Amino acid sequence: MLNKIKTFFINVQFVYWVILVLFAIFVSLTWVGNSRLGLLNEKIDLITSDLTYLEENTAASTTELRKSITQTHSDLSLAINDEKKNVGEIEELLGVYKEENEKISGTVTTLEKLSKIDPEILQKYSKVFFLSEHYAPARLAEIPDTYEYHEDKFSKLDSQVYPYLENMLKSALADNLGIYVYSAYRSYEEQNALKSLYTVIYGAGTANQFSADQGYSEHQLGTAVDLITTGIGGTLEGFENTEAYLWLLNNAYKFGFTLSYPKYNDFYVYEPWHWRFVGVKLATHLHDTQQNFYDLDQREIDEYLINLFE
Ligand code: DAL
Ligand code: ZN
Repeated sequence: MLNKIKTFFINVQFVYWVILVLFAIFVSLTWVGNSRLGLLNEKIDLITSDLTYLEENTAASTTELRKSITQTHSDLSLAINDEKKNVGEIEELLGVYKEENEKISGTVTTLEKLSKIDPEILQKYSKVFFLSEHYAPARLAEIPDTYEYHEDKFSKLDSQVYPYLENMLKSALADNLGIYVYSAYRSYEEQNALKSLYTVIYGAGTANQFSADQGYSEHQLGTAVDLITTGIGGTLEGFENTEAYLWLLNNAYKFGFTLSYPKYNDFYVYEPWHWRFVGVKLATHLHDTQQNFYDLDQREIDEYLINLFE
């Protein structure tokens, strides 16, 4: 009898331990699951706050993303509250959302990058697109005297574009070619004054062939430069016969610059001196396919905006 009672108690103790161990396993699995869910929720919150910031700049695309995030959030909450779902199932769900979130994060990064790039910078101007009188690049860099053709001039260029110009001029110098800036950023008012002056001197018909109206000049963007070299009497005429021009034709694309007005373009006379920054990727594409910036569709050009400063 005593033995039977003893065995009974040993069995009860065993069952008790088994229950305790099972309970401990259940609690730790739930804890792991919940802490993972917590991390994911934190990540979703971060992305949601990114989206709020981005929504102000890129409303349409982020609305789509926000919908997707809200869906993820509500699906996850349902899963967490569904007592029938075990940790394994929730883990599986987490895997799916991890992938989804990575995709969304990628899109957010792209949008964030785009929101920092001036959307005007790759638009076609030259009689096609208009820049308001209030438009000016966000930041302008002063071009050092070393690169100015007229040392008493204080030309400026978009501060993000300037390093590319500097590298290009340095590289030309390393090849024993002095290439200098003749003109760079021109405000709406400066372009207006210049065009009026040309119109008085040459008449509207002739002035229209080589000078843009205010609001239509690539110079107002702060990404275009007129370049000159020594030995041609300080005027832009004759630049096409110089070694400097030949060098630019073969090398400017490596620094993101392209010739805006080649021979027989639809807008102005041939301007071998006028180079516009469009980013290394687009300039290389134009160079390799022997096309000009204005030959491309604006939609095709826009695809290069994201890589402008790479
Ligand atoms: N010379 C070019 C066309 C300009 O004025 O922008
Ligand atoms: Zn120019």
